[in-house]
Amino acid sequence: MRFYRAKDYNDMSRKAANIISAQIIMKPQCVLGLATGSTPIGAYRQLVEWYNKGDLDFSEVTTVNLDEYKGLARDNRQSYYYFMNENLFSKVNIDTDRTFLPDGMEADSEIACRKYNEIIHSVGGVDLQLLGLGHNGHIGFNEPGIAFETETHCVTLSERTRKANMRFFISEDHVPRQAYTMGIKTIMSAHKILVVVSGEDKADIVRQAFFGPVTPQIPASILQLHNDVTIVADEAALSKCTEKI
Ligand code: GLP
Repeated sequence: MRFYRAKDYNDMSRKAANIISAQIIMKPQCVLGLATGSTPIGAYRQLVEWYNKGDLDFSEVTTVNLDEYKGLARDNRQSYYYFMNENLFSKVNIDTDRTFLPDGMEADSEIACRKYNEIIHSVGGVDLQLLGLGHNGHIGFNEPGIAFETETHCVTLSERTRKANMRFFISEDHVPRQAYTMGIKTIMSAHKILVVVSGEDKADIVRQAFFGPVTPQIPASILQLHNDVTIVADEAALSKCTEKI
């Protein structure tokens, strides 16, 4: 695992955006695995800025997102499709026919997950997967205890995750109870993985996930076994790592 220490959130965002743009420049027809949550917003903002300057071209890029809430339509402001559209897709020259997320409105979980797996396989897998890190070590919506060999599946969100995501909703009651997420197996199949982490509230989980034992109780710990993982974290998120990085 490679660690890049960033001064603060803005520095983390710029460094992450640099890595993503290098991927797009080196392989214009690449497949990017994208993430939602607060952490990647700054990186998306930076990519949009470079696109506006004429430095980046998304016209041949394909994207597959990690997850989507079950039961939320694309035009629901809390859906991850809406988030992606707001933060990136509508602001760059990406072909929206090549931007994929699980279908939150497909009520049959089996169909939704099978279709999403088919899409991921049909685009030929992910070149660079961007990940945030949940406070309990979740990646995508793979909650503690999930088997490492799963592909796209339907999850029941933990109370902790629902509380953490409540800030985007009117109240906790409005946070969906289930979501569709790429599985750990899918995430681990990406050629390269980029993890972004910011803030002191993530310091404990950064230490446990990347310096502790590999265990399904901390889903992100599996990343220690991937051969091309880059972690861009700010000082605050790294504050509990005493290891030399
Ligand atoms: C959500 C998303 C994850 C994300 C996590 C952390 O649960 N499904 O993909 O990594 O939140 O979010 P944040 O970056 O806001 O801390």
